[in-house]
Amino acid sequence: MSTRGKIMLVGLGPGSVEHMSARARAAIAEADTIIGYVTYIRLVAELLEGKEVVKKSMTEELDRAIEALERARQGRKVALVSSGDAGVYGMAGPTFEVLFQAGWTPDSAIEVEIVPGASALNTCAALVGAPLTHDFCAISLSDLLTPWPTIARRLDAVAYADFVVALYNPKSGRRTRQIVEAQRLFLRHRRADTPVAIVKSAYRPRQRIEFTTLERMAEADIGMLTTVLIGNSNTFVRDGLMVTPRGYAHKYEVAAGERATLEGEQAGRSLSTGLNGWLATIRASGRSAAELATEYRLPQDYVAAALAAAPTAAAAMADAAEDAT
Ligand SMILES: C[S@@+](CC[C@H](N)C(=O)[O-])C[C@H]1O[C@@H](n2cnc3c(N)ncnc32)[C@H](O)[C@@H]1O
Repeated sequence: MSTRGKIMLVGLGPGSVEHMSARARAAIAEADTIIGYVTYIRLVAELLEGKEVVKKSMTEELDRAIEALERARQGRKVALVSSGDAGVYGMAGPTFEVLFQAGWTPDSAIEVEIVPGASALNTCAALVGAPLTHDFCAISLSDLLTPWPTIARRLDAVAYADFVVALYNPKSGRRTRQIVEAQRLFLRHRRADTPVAIVKSAYRPRQRIEFTTLERMAEADIGMLTTVLIGNSNTFVRDGLMVTPRGYAHKYEVAAGERATLEGEQAGRSLSTGLNGWLATIRASGRSAAELATEYRLPQDYVAAALAAAPTAAAAMADAAEDAT
């Protein structure tokens, strides 16, 4: 038997056995030591027979990582389990911090494997429809380790930039004001009727889904096991499904199962308002960088540089390549 220790950072998915990956189950089977928060360990109870189980509470992330390192140094195979994905607000970061501080490198005697799992963002989205079909991001409202001004700045930036946003750690018994502040920042840039989905305990026995709006979001039943999905300016809710359009309406007339390309657009080519089309439009407009910056909500120096640059050979080549497809 190899004496080389191993740490497996295992994402268990949302909390139902059906949504755990085959590799996650195999990693737990392969391990002789399992470390994790009690709730998550309970999910894999039937796989634990004959293994050492170290149950740790929520606040002891660094302790869990240190414990894993110590066992792996003894040649043990340790599974450090996280809900969702271990790399999304999970154990992967603290584990690498502890490992690097201890002088570990990937060539060291301890092997590290990260086993991906479906994060709350994916699983909550799947329960409400297709809210993440366009650009999105995740922001945690937990200020236990992140200064509030950092969180607020990010909220403000993504609200302005019209991302779909998944809010992790939106509220707990002690942290009740953060969601109200997030709502306030969002309402500075977004319509009050922007769709919001509140998903509680996804794929767990107490699962609960509520559709609301940005204006009413803070009144919803939100807790520790809730993910809040805020749509972008095109997101809609229809027949109990939250959908963010992919953008086909910019290019096609989609009617009764037929698809006709809109005037000025071509299938397989960038949108007429894509980069090259936009550059041609602003150059032909004769308008100032300041005016264009206001219209497109872009930094003035960026627009000025775009106006100043000659059409590049690269853009011409991209056009030619697209023509050939
Ligand atoms: C510390 S983070 C862990 C995230 C996890 N690693 C993941 O990838 O989903 C905890 C937050 O994840 C979200 N979360 C985790 N499991 C969830 C579930 N089953 N339903 C809804 N939200 C969940 C909640 O926002 C919760 O406050």
